Amino acid sequence: MSKNNKPNPLWGGHFSSGPAEIMEKINASIDFDKKMYAQDIKGSVAHCQMLAKVGILTESEAEQITNGLQEIQQEMAAGDFEFSTELEDIHMNIESRLKEKIGDVAGKLHTGRSRNDQVATDFKLWVRDAIDYIDDDLRELQAVLLQRAEEYYDVVMPGFTHLQTAQPVTFGHHVMAYVEMVGRDRGRLQDARKRLNQCPLGAAALAGTSFPIDRHKTAESLGFDMPTANSLDTVSDRDFAIEFVSSLSVLAVHLSRLAEEIVLWVSDGFKFVTLSNAFTTGSSIMPQKRNPDAAELVRSKTGRINGSLITLLTVMKGLPLAYSKDMQEDKEPVFDAAENILLCIRATAGMVGDMTVNKDAMKERAMGGFSTATDIADWCVQNLGIPFRQCHAITGKIVRLAEEKNCRLDELSLEDMQSVEAGITKDIYRVLSVENSVASRISYGGTAPENVKQQIVAARKEYL
Ligand code: ARG
Repeated sequence: MSKNNKPNPLWGGHFSSGPAEIMEKINASIDFDKKMYAQDIKGSVAHCQMLAKVGILTESEAEQITNGLQEIQQEMAAGDFEFSTELEDIHMNIESRLKEKIGDVAGKLHTGRSRNDQVATDFKLWVRDAIDYIDDDLRELQAVLLQRAEEYYDVVMPGFTHLQTAQPVTFGHHVMAYVEMVGRDRGRLQDARKRLNQCPLGAAALAGTSFPIDRHKTAESLGFDMPTANSLDTVSDRDFAIEFVSSLSVLAVHLSRLAEEIVLWVSDGFKFVTLSNAFTTGSSIMPQKRNPDAAELVRSKTGRINGSLITLLTVMKGLPLAYSKDMQEDKEPVFDAAENILLCIRATAGMVGDMTVNKDAMKERAMGGFSTATDIADWCVQNLGIPFRQCHAITGKIVRLAEEKNCRLDELSLEDMQSVEAGITKDIYRVLSVENSVASRISYGGTAPENVKQQIVAARKEYL
C-alpha cells in the first residue's frame, strides 16, 4: 500500500515506513498553504531572533538560519521553489529546504515551538494582511460611491418599499446608503483585526514550552499587541478566521444588494442607468443584448462566500481542545472568500464609476405611483390641524380618485381635492412636486439634497 517506504524526514523517528498514497494525498496541505510562505518565513525569522536573544541559539546560528530563510523567501517569490507533497505543508517544505541549504543547524529553528502555534501565527498574519488590503479596496469603493453621490445629490428617483413606489428620494441619498453599509463593513473588519492581534507563537504544541522563550519579544516583532494568554486556546482557536469570513459575508450581502439594484436599474422595466461595454457582455444569439454579468456575478459570489463561513463554522464545531487535523481545512474557505470578495469590491467600484445615470427616467418614474401621497397627508396635518391617522384616510381617498381618473396626484383639480376634504387650498400643490417633496425631508439622515450634501462632507471626513 505505501507509496514510498521512507518515513518522513522531519518526524519519522519512530516510523519504520512511509504513508499510503491516499494518506499522503488527504494529509497534504501544501497545494494551498503555500500561499502563506511569506508569513511562515516572517514568523520563523522572528522566532529565530528571539531564540538568539534568550541564548538558545548563538548569534552565528541565528544568522545562518535567518539568511537561509531569506534565500528561501526569494526562491519562493521568484517561483523557483519546488514544493513537495511528501513534505505535507508549507512549514515542513521550508524547514526541509533550510536543512538542504545550511545543514543540521536548521533543526534548531523548531526549538520551543510546534507546527500548531506556527500555523496559527502564519494564518493570523495572513488574515491580518488580508484585512488591511481589503480595507484599502473598501475605502476606494467608498470614494467612488461618494463621487457619484455628489454628482447626483439632487437627482430625484422613486424610493421603494416592497419594490413598490413609496416616496421620492434622491439618487445621491440612495448611493450614500451603501457608503454607510461599507462603513460598517470596514468597522467589523477592524474589530476582528483588534481581537486577532495577539501572537500565538510559543504556545508550542498545546502546553507551552520548558525553554526560556520570550513570547513578548516575538509578539512585538511580528506587530502583535501581546502574546495570547492560554496555550490550549491558542492552538485551537480559529475565531479570527470565522470573524474575518463572517465580516466578508455581511459585506458580500451588501454588495449583492447593490448588484441586484444595478441589474434592476439597467433592465428595460427601469432604464435608470446604463453600463458601458466595459461592464457588460453581449449575447451570442441576440444582437441587441447588453447583459449586466459583472453585477450578476457579484450577486452570486455571495453564495460561495457565505458557504465559506458555513464550512469554517462546521469544521470547528465540536472539536475537542486542543489542535486537531480538522483545522487544516480552515484555510481554503478563507483564501477563497478573500479572493472573491476582492473581485466583488473591485467590480462593484468599477460598475458604480462606469454607469451613466438616466436622470429623466428616474424623475419620470418618481412622479408616478402617487409617490407624493404622504406629502398630502403631511400637508393636511400641518395646515388643517387634523390628526395624522385621519389625514392618512383623506389621502387614501384622494389617491383613489386619481386612480379612477387615471391621472397623477398633481393633475387632480382643487375641486377634486376639496370633494374629499373641504379645507384643502391650492397651497397643497406646492408639496406635490417630487422636487419639493425631497427638499422637505430635512430631518437628520433624510433625503433632502441639502442633507445629502452634508452627509457627503461628513462621510468623506470619516472614511476617506
Ligand atoms: N498543516 C497543518 C495545518 O494546516 C499544520 C499543523 C500540523 N500540526 C500537526 N500537529 N499535525 O493545520
